Amino acid sequence: MSAVLEVSGLEVFYGASQILFGIDLKIEQGQTMALLGRNGAGKSTTMKAIAGVVAPRAGRIAFGGKQMAGMKPYAVARLGLAYVPEDRQVFPEHTVRDNLLIAAKKGPQGQDEWTVSRIWQVLPLLERLRDRPAGRLSGGEQQALVIGRALMGNPTMLLLDEPSEGLAPIVVSSIGDLLRALRAQGATVLIAEQNMHFCLGVASDAVVIDKGKIVYRDNIAGLRENAEVRSQYLAM
Ligand SMILES: Nc1ncnc2c1ncn2[C@@H]1O[C@H](COP(=O)(O)OP(=O)(O)OP(=O)(O)O)[C@@H](O)[C@H]1O
Ligand SMILES: [Mg+2]
Repeated sequence: MSAVLEVSGLEVFYGASQILFGIDLKIEQGQTMALLGRNGAGKSTTMKAIAGVVAPRAGRIAFGGKQMAGMKPYAVARLGLAYVPEDRQVFPEHTVRDNLLIAAKKGPQGQDEWTVSRIWQVLPLLERLRDRPAGRLSGGEQQALVIGRALMGNPTMLLLDEPSEGLAPIVVSSIGDLLRALRAQGATVLIAEQNMHFCLGVASDAVVIDKGKIVYRDNIAGLRENAEVRSQYLAM
C-alpha cells in the first residue's frame, strides 16, 4: 500500500497560541481513517491545515507524493483532495440537483465516475429532494448534500469534518451507509469526529488527538478493545 496523504511535524498557531504540536499522520490508499478527539482537541485545525484553509507554521503535508503545505484551498482541491468543512454550506437558492451539478468536474487524472444518478444510488435520501432549494433542507440533508457535492468532483481523497454532528439518527445511519459503500469501493477518507460509535462502524483505522498531539493510533478493532484510551481521551 502506498501513502495517499502523509503529514509530518505539523504545527499550527492562531496568533500567539499554538494549537497543533507536531502532528504525524499517514493515510494509505483505501483506508477510512478516523481522527478522533474531544472538543477543542485540534481535529478541525488539522483538517483545515491539510485543506489549505490555515497555513501551518511548520511541517510537511504530502499528497500523492506532492508537497502541499502552504498551498491555497483551490490548489489543494485541484490535486484531488476534497474537503467538507463543519459548516455545511450549500447554495440555498439552488435545487439539490443543481447544487450537485455545479460541482461536477473531472478528477485530477480525468476520472469521471460520479454522476447525479450515482449520487442518488449512494445517498437515496437526496433523490426525493432533488427539486427542493437546498436552503430548505434539514441539517442532515444538507450534510448529505455537501458530501454528494464533494464526490461530484471525483476526488482522490475525502476529508470530512464531523459529518455526524448534531444529526438525527436516521441521517447518521445513511451517512454511515454511504461511508461503508465508499470504503468497499476502495475510497480513501479522513473523518474528524467526536462520535466514536459512528467511527467504530465506518472506519478501518483510527488516530486520537488530544491537546494538539496524536496520542494513539491503531486499526479500528484495536480502538474498540482499548477501553483505557477510550475513557481517557474520548467522550463516551
Ligand atoms: N480561529 C481561531 N482563533 C483562535 N483559536 C482558535 C481558532 N479556531 C480554533 N481555535 C482553538 O483551537 C483549538 C482547537 O480547535 P479545533 O476547532 O481544531 O478543535 P476540534 O477538535 O475540531 O473541536 P470540536 O470537536 O469542538 O470541533 C481550540 O482550543 C479552539 O478554541
Ligand atoms: Mg471541529
